[in-house]
Amino acid sequence: MKTRRLTVLISGNGSNLQALIDARDQGRLRIEIVQVISNRADAMGLKRADRAGIPALIIDHREFPDRASFDAQLAAAIQAGAPDLVVLAGFMRIIGPAVLEPFEGRMINLHPSLLPRYRGTHTYQRALDAGDVEHGASIHFVSEVLDGGPVLSQLRIPILDKDDKTTLAARLAPMEHRLLVSTIEFLTRHEVECRDETIYVDGKPLNRPLLLQPDETLS
Ligand code: GRF
Repeated sequence: MKTRRLTVLISGNGSNLQALIDARDQGRLRIEIVQVISNRADAMGLKRADRAGIPALIIDHREFPDRASFDAQLAAAIQAGAPDLVVLAGFMRIIGPAVLEPFEGRMINLHPSLLPRYRGTHTYQRALDAGDVEHGASIHFVSEVLDGGPVLSQLRIPILDKDDKTTLAARLAPMEHRLLVSTIEFLTRHEVECRDETIYVDGKPLNRPLLLQPDETLS
């Protein structure tokens, strides 16, 4: 099994990045995190990258006159690392075509909802307001539609009567870490392709997202 080269895009805390670093250090994931890119200079995830000895780069969208020039810079930076996979782990910017096209089918995003429900932000409150009995997280291939690309994997958690958006987010966070690590482990063990809005695993179309059960891994 060859080591996969990952570039991780972040905007904030970077706890999911940390989960990848820890899984790498424990020998659970055969990955090299070649680069961390943040659009915010104050992202805690930059400190995590630094501590782990991973090269990190800040590309602050506010320093660019328009979206196209930010996208061009971001695309060039990612390409310089020659990653096999680009992981959006709490990256709070829309990915434009200049970034997406070179990496289509090789770029995944972690989103805190059971897609296709609740694309965009405030997913916890929206699930609570709708009276949902469960919430969860999804990993999908990035497409030009925000949080809209084909969903590769999901994890579900129950919504409890006493939940508010803070408790729900706090319970989901460690589950997101598990989902991300397990999904990347799956990607290192299988041939996974995404073409024409369909995901193929070892040549077979994936009819529904992989569902990660509590205390299991994706096989
Ligand atoms: C996660 O909830 C992820 O689903 C969302 O942003 C959050 C990132 O958290 N896209 P962290 O920065 O990895 O701690």
